[in-house]
Amino acid sequence: MSTDFTPRQALGVIDSPVVLLTSAADGMRNVMTVNMVMGVSFNPVLVAISLNPGSFSHELIERSGDFAINVAGPDQISLVERVGSAHGAEVDKFDDFGIVTKAAERVVAPLVDGCPAALECRVIDTHPAGEHTVFIGHVVALHRREGLPIFLYRGDYYEPGNKLGTFFKGEAA
Ligand SMILES: Cc1cc2nc3c(=O)[nH]c(=O)nc-3n(C[C@H](O)[C@H](O)[C@H](O)COP(=O)(O)O)c2cc1C
Repeated sequence: MSTDFTPRQALGVIDSPVVLLTSAADGMRNVMTVNMVMGVSFNPVLVAISLNPGSFSHELIERSGDFAINVAGPDQISLVERVGSAHGAEVDKFDDFGIVTKAAERVVAPLVDGCPAALECRVIDTHPAGEHTVFIGHVVALHRREGLPIFLYRGDYYEPGNKLGTFFKGEAA
């Protein structure tokens, strides 16, 4: 037990998805890495993302009212690191990092090609949370293809290894 821990030590033990979060507004577009993401409701289908208000994505999502969650795969770790350390107000990360996009169906945010899954989301609510803002997104379209996602645990990236069981047996997920 420890009461003397860093924020990264505490939050790092909650394993999390790694997401390329896309946004677009007023002729601008952006992509950033996000791992603070979770599902929060089945009906309606809602997800939450937590963003630093200093990020350019925060500004674009506030303006457009939508975003896309592009779940990263094992071949995208270097991209995850690069878009997670560059500021979209200064560079076009899509051009600089050669990111191929395709148009979404229901939102203005673009989709990143080659991701195992993507969710198109419309913002229905925002909440301040500490130094971050939580955006609640209504999932309005789902994209899935073959391939597994990566996840983050205690500062390291992993890909799923051994399947240990099935949750909600019989219900397709
Ligand atoms: C693995 C990883 C996870 C990250 N998770 C988050 C997150 O959940 N929320 C956040 O605000 N920033 C997160 N970041 C940092 C942003 O991606 C980073 O600040 C980015 O440069 C913001 O880009 P923008 O200003 O172009 O929007 C993460 C970075 C990495 C590498």
